Amino acid sequence: TKRVRVHHLRELKERGEPWPMLTAYDTYTAAIFDQAGIPVLLVGDSAANTVYGYQTSLPVTVEEMLPLVRAVTRSVTKALVVADLPFGSYQVSPEQALTTAVRFMKDGQAHAVKLEGGRRFAAHVEAITSAGVPVMGHLGFTPQSEHNLGGYRVQGRGDAGDEMVADALALQEAGAFAVVLEMVPADVAKRITSELAIPTVGIGAGPDCDAQVLVWQDMAGLNQGKAPRFVKRYADVGGVIAGAASEFAAEVRGRQFPAPEHVFH
Ligand code: KIV
Ligand code: NA
Repeated sequence: TKRVRVHHLRELKERGEPWPMLTAYDTYTAAIFDQAGIPVLLVGDSAANTVYGYQTSLPVTVEEMLPLVRAVTRSVTKALVVADLPFGSYQVSPEQALTTAVRFMKDGQAHAVKLEGGRRFAAHVEAITSAGVPVMGHLGFTPQSEHNLGGYRVQGRGDAGDEMVADALALQEAGAFAVVLEMVPADVAKRITSELAIPTVGIGAGPDCDAQVLVWQDMAGLNQGKAPRFVKRYADVGGVIAGAASEFAAEVRGRQFPAPEHVFH
């Protein structure tokens, strides 16, 4: 069982083999996904919503993200673990971006980092990759900019598609090893995927990306709320846990639990 490295992901692209990526934020789920053969796990700043219960991804801090990254990296044997740089921890300057990336690599023991933005962040990506740290880019709907983008909306329609291609090429040029495309029209994602040598990772970006990513609680149905159109729910984990909790509660109240086999004498 060899570790997944960034060059493996580029080889998959060259062979035309799509690969899956999931978010992970804790040790048990990370081990499950690692053993299920998910090659890349993202400790997303979506932890703001999925772990900490914030309404947007903006409030989550480096201090809140680091323990989650450590939990995930400690539990995997193969998967490449990407740590998302939270809002405010890299935008100020390429130096700030590198300083934060180094924290995620040293204190978080991550294998790579991810940040949002196009051409204006090429220098930030370059500063990090020059220090030997792989960087994943993120274009299209970038949740850290939701107040500027006007909420959850498809990005890159019309002339904005050409701008997004230029952004993707700039990230590749700056040394990024992959680029997430979020809520992008399928034809634009297809064009970016064919113009880039590095893999594209789609989320609401159609079938032609080199990889696909989903937030695990959406994918597995732990999140009981309304999911965006691009999410497919593969299980009802929320229902399973609710059922287990109700049955436990009923058995405690009915004095059926603990049974003799659970008792020490
Ligand atoms: O934070 C996150 O979960 C992400 C993915 C949706 C790509 O950035
Ligand atoms: Na994110």
